[in-house]
Amino acid sequence: MSLWIKENCVSFFQLFCIKVIKTGRVPQHIAFIMDGNRRYAKKNSVDKSTGHHKGFDKLSETLKWCLDLGIPEVTVYAFSIENFKRSKEEVDALMELAREKFQNLLDEIDQIDEWGVRVHVAGRLSLLPEHLRSLVSKVMLATKDNNRLCLNIAYAYTGRDEISRAASRIIDGVKENKISPENIDEELISQSLDLGEPELLVRTSGEVRLSDFMLWQISNTVLYFTDVLWPEFTIWNLLAAIIHFQRNAPPIKAEDTNETAHEKEEFLKYLEQRRAQELTKYIS
Ligand code: FPP
Ligand code: MG
Repeated sequence: MSLWIKENCVSFFQLFCIKVIKTGRVPQHIAFIMDGNRRYAKKNSVDKSTGHHKGFDKLSETLKWCLDLGIPEVTVYAFSIENFKRSKEEVDALMELAREKFQNLLDEIDQIDEWGVRVHVAGRLSLLPEHLRSLVSKVMLATKDNNRLCLNIAYAYTGRDEISRAASRIIDGVKENKISPENIDEELISQSLDLGEPELLVRTSGEVRLSDFMLWQISNTVLYFTDVLWPEFTIWNLLAAIIHFQRNAPPIKAEDTNETAHEKEEFLKYLEQRRAQELTKYIS
């Protein structure tokens, strides 16, 4: 049994509803701000760490629902740079939770491969403890060839920090003559970021803020806010979010047929190489 993808959590009737929803347009990239773990813990008189563990269990159910819905990309906000300001006890518990779950993922890699899940951890990895940084790098390398569902985990992440890291990469590219300033445009900036544009963003727990999540990417995203606490999120909440998307989605963008300048393509390859080198460096 996989810990990351919860099996047997969809009833026959729910599967039927998923099929009905799939006759309409389903978002190709959905992002979640998984909020409300500590309020859930308080409500149920358990400690905060248990609340976060329940939050992880909910993520594994949500991934199964997304796989059944045929959604190819899911991004979750699992740890913000701001979260480092929480008590040492809570930060340590969250880091330990991540360590345990990423280690489980490597231990069950055959099942992850069977599900076709690729894991990409996006954020300022240099802020993580060394053992966790090495572990997430191993997870990314181990799953890089899977292509049924890409799971982006925003960890030690904020949207503004992501934009500033992309700016630094572009400046390095200019300094190393890999890109000329006149080729820097919106497309190049988008492609220099860690994360792509979600079509639907869901935030739980009644908060209606963005909390510095994917700021560049959500310019055209449908937003859905629900009062339910993340550990109590159900498949019905997810289907309601998708119906909201179906009612409010902007028209599908026509494929950009403009040829990308050769220099830009080369620069993007250079970025890919740099990312790969960084991962290998973290592992060794
Ligand atoms: C927000 O609720 C949740 C977090 C800061 C942590 C989210 C992490 C998980 C769901 C586990 C994911 C783990 C991995 C390894 C992917 P909160 O703490 O802000 O709760 P509150 O809003 O009720 O205070
Ligand atoms: Mg919160």
